[in-house]
Amino acid sequence: MSTPIRWGILGTGSIAKQFARGLAAIAQDATLVAVGSRTAASADAFAKEFGAKRAHATYEALARDAEVDAIYIATPHPMHRDNALLCIDAGKAVLCEKPFTVNAAEAEEVIARARAKGVFLMEAMWTRFLPAIAQTRQWIAEGAIGEPRMVTADFGFRAGFDPKSRLFAPALAGGALLDVGVYTIALASMVFGPQPTAISAHAHLGESGVDEQTAVTLAYAGGRLASLTCAVRTNTPQAARIDGTEGSIEIPGFWHTQKAILHAGGKDTVAEKPFIGNGYSHQAIEVAACLRAKRTESAVIPWSESIAIMRIMDDVRRHIGLRYPFENAAKAQGK
Ligand SMILES: NC(=O)c1ccc[n+]([C@@H]2O[C@H](COP(=O)([O-])OP(=O)(O)OC[C@H]3O[C@@H](n4cnc5c(N)ncnc54)[C@H](OP(=O)(O)O)[C@@H]3O)[C@@H](O)[C@H]2O)c1
Repeated sequence: MSTPIRWGILGTGSIAKQFARGLAAIAQDATLVAVGSRTAASADAFAKEFGAKRAHATYEALARDAEVDAIYIATPHPMHRDNALLCIDAGKAVLCEKPFTVNAAEAEEVIARARAKGVFLMEAMWTRFLPAIAQTRQWIAEGAIGEPRMVTADFGFRAGFDPKSRLFAPALAGGALLDVGVYTIALASMVFGPQPTAISAHAHLGESGVDEQTAVTLAYAGGRLASLTCAVRTNTPQAARIDGTEGSIEIPGFWHTQKAILHAGGKDTVAEKPFIGNGYSHQAIEVAACLRAKRTESAVIPWSESIAIMRIMDDVRRHIGLRYPFENAAKAQGK
């Protein structure tokens, strides 16, 4: 039997806690050994709650921890780049939350560093590893719906407006697109491949200047289309549908689904596909498999696709006129 991958978690916010619970469900594959926070108190509390052996009061100390194989980055979007570079430079495998970075230039930089250092790196697009989504891929590959022609997906929820929060603050790269729209784009990318031929988008930029709701159309070769919406001030069904020439696949609650429904040949086939733990476990299982196989990237969400997804979001942001303050500062400095 293989030894479990020794994990460190960087950041102690809400998704960090979910991931720690996800690791606890796969003891054969993973063990949480350390956490790193900007404060000792938060690191201590997290380590106590989730049974990590060591609590580091800085991210740097976590990156230096010799007993850690892989680090999960769970900070707000604009920190992903620096946090990932820190861990890669320390020789750690990295699983980095979505959106992978804030823009494609940052994604390219982080991936180039992982390539140069020969270190594993993967975007934590956890949905893609869920058994119901794997079933969806299998149905498509088998031709169960013929040729996929249209993808429709939405991910909206109503958050209370707080201009200082991660969801609404421009300095924290707030807005619906990067937070939840990324799931809809990743789904379209999974079905049609990462390279649309044309992109159009409209959005409502709210009081704090970030997109509160966005509609994106991606056009692909041969007339295939994805129609995607996302929101942080409106609840939506959060459903996805893939329509093909011979049938359709419906995925209720697609970003955290345990079910997919195939409508084809005049009948409905419901695939009930429970996930392990809270669902976040599957991406950690993939990291373990890749590390054991000595791979530096996952074939399920390869580096080229993470870059392509960021490029699509850059393009959407150009269409809707959304640029973050730190991007303007970086441009002024010639970065
Ligand atoms: N996969 C999913 O289902 C999912 C769900 C939610 C979020 N996410 C992603 O995970 C990332 C974190 O989201 P979250 O909801 O967990 O955020 P959160 O609850 O605000 O936690 C973020 C953590 O990052 C650290 N941090 C470092 N610099 C910070 C700063 N300037 N401001 C605030 N926190 C800072 C903090 O940890 P310390 O104080 O310990 O340093 C904080 O607890 C985002 O990129 C988001 O897109 C993914």
